[in-house]
Amino acid sequence: MCYAIPGKIIEIKDKKVTVEYFGERKTAHNEYNGLKLGDYIYAQGGFVIKTIPKYEAEAILATWKETFFELQALDLRLSRIDLEKSGVSRRLSLILDKALEEMPLQDSDYLYLLELENKKELELLYKAANFLRHKHHSNSCCVHGIVEISNYCKNSCGYCGISKNNIKINRYRMSLDEIYDAAYEAVEKYGFKALVLQSGEDAGYSVPELAKTIKKIRSELKALIFISFGEVGIPALEEYYKAGARGLLMRFETSNPEIFSTVCGRESLESRISQIKAAYKMGYLIATGGLIGLPNQTSQDLLEDIKLTKELHAEMYSFGPFIPHPETPLKDIASPNPETVLKVIAVSRLIDPKNAKILVTTGFETLFDNARRKGLSSGANSIMLNVTPEKFRKLYSIYPKRAHENESIQEQIDSTLTLLKNLGRAPTDLSVSQT
Ligand code: 5AD
Repeated sequence: MCYAIPGKIIEIKDKKVTVEYFGERKTAHNEYNGLKLGDYIYAQGGFVIKTIPKYEAEAILATWKETFFELQALDLRLSRIDLEKSGVSRRLSLILDKALEEMPLQDSDYLYLLELENKKELELLYKAANFLRHKHHSNSCCVHGIVEISNYCKNSCGYCGISKNNIKINRYRMSLDEIYDAAYEAVEKYGFKALVLQSGEDAGYSVPELAKTIKKIRSELKALIFISFGEVGIPALEEYYKAGARGLLMRFETSNPEIFSTVCGRESLESRISQIKAAYKMGYLIATGGLIGLPNQTSQDLLEDIKLTKELHAEMYSFGPFIPHPETPLKDIASPNPETVLKVIAVSRLIDPKNAKILVTTGFETLFDNARRKGLSSGANSIMLNVTPEKFRKLYSIYPKRAHENESIQEQIDSTLTLLKNLGRAPTDLSVSQT
């Protein structure tokens, strides 16, 4: 099973290669020597990950070919939209008309969308976002794996179940061999091409030892690696980049500095943002976003969060709902309405139609049963599956009863592929840019 479609190289220009599969052309950045025209490669997030033998690529393409065009046709049918017959308010119709033409909207328009409540109007907003997702990303859907390597954290964020202040939680820290083995299983057994390694801010690992593990995974398994170890500082970001990490997943949590300092238990949002900016300059792909439903957060704050995500050049938007954890100061605060999460997904798509990969987060799935289907039909095009070894998974309890925490990797893959098939989506992530 694979979570990317192999492409055949049809052009090489310096470090840029163009590949083709089923008539679709995409470009990817190449860091390997010796690639030739006609080679087959996997790419993730716009990076060439590895070459694969011709016979293997042709066999995979042959199995895909049967379904690929059927999936595209289904996706096209599901994403059609007809504003004229929609019977919604004139203002909404005008805003969506402009959005579909990709004309800039005013902040007041986005706020209007974020505050919609009428079911029919919400459905139309989601459809418009889905149309733009289809237009720019066709039916591709990223499926990355995440390994939660340690639940130790030196921070005391008021919402987070693995905060150092939670003395009731059992702590674990995977050994470097266990991290490699989990990555090996995800890549070699299950076919993942992109992996996120995540932990709390854990001083129990040294930077050189994590860098060594990243280097081993990158060089031996040829996967795209995102790091998500919190604010590690610029020298460590540099070291992990040198070791082969190419993505950083770090949410800024909220763009409102007052809310940030109240709930995140640390003074400076600036420091986090400056690390995200520095990582982008180093060449990392950025995955970021915020929490939806923090105390005192307004629609204006959510709009600023989306705009900040774009400003930070995020290639992946990660917005999830706050979910109360009983052992935290925010235990009595309710989660947001699922519609609020969908509105953030849809407005993110309207604000960044071309570049955004928008994630349906596990938090959203925990909050709402139909989250994946609804999220993917409202502008999202990305999913992460939890490939943490099962014995550790429940201990990574940033919030309780996380979706899929009891499902094997295979069960998660099976249900994901069934859903993607029903929606006409293909699990492929060949590039950040289409030629
Ligand atoms: N509810 C939802 N998301 C949470 N996170 C931490 N605690 C919670 C919670 N109670 C998210 C944060 C962090 C990510 C790893 O997990 O946004 O960045």
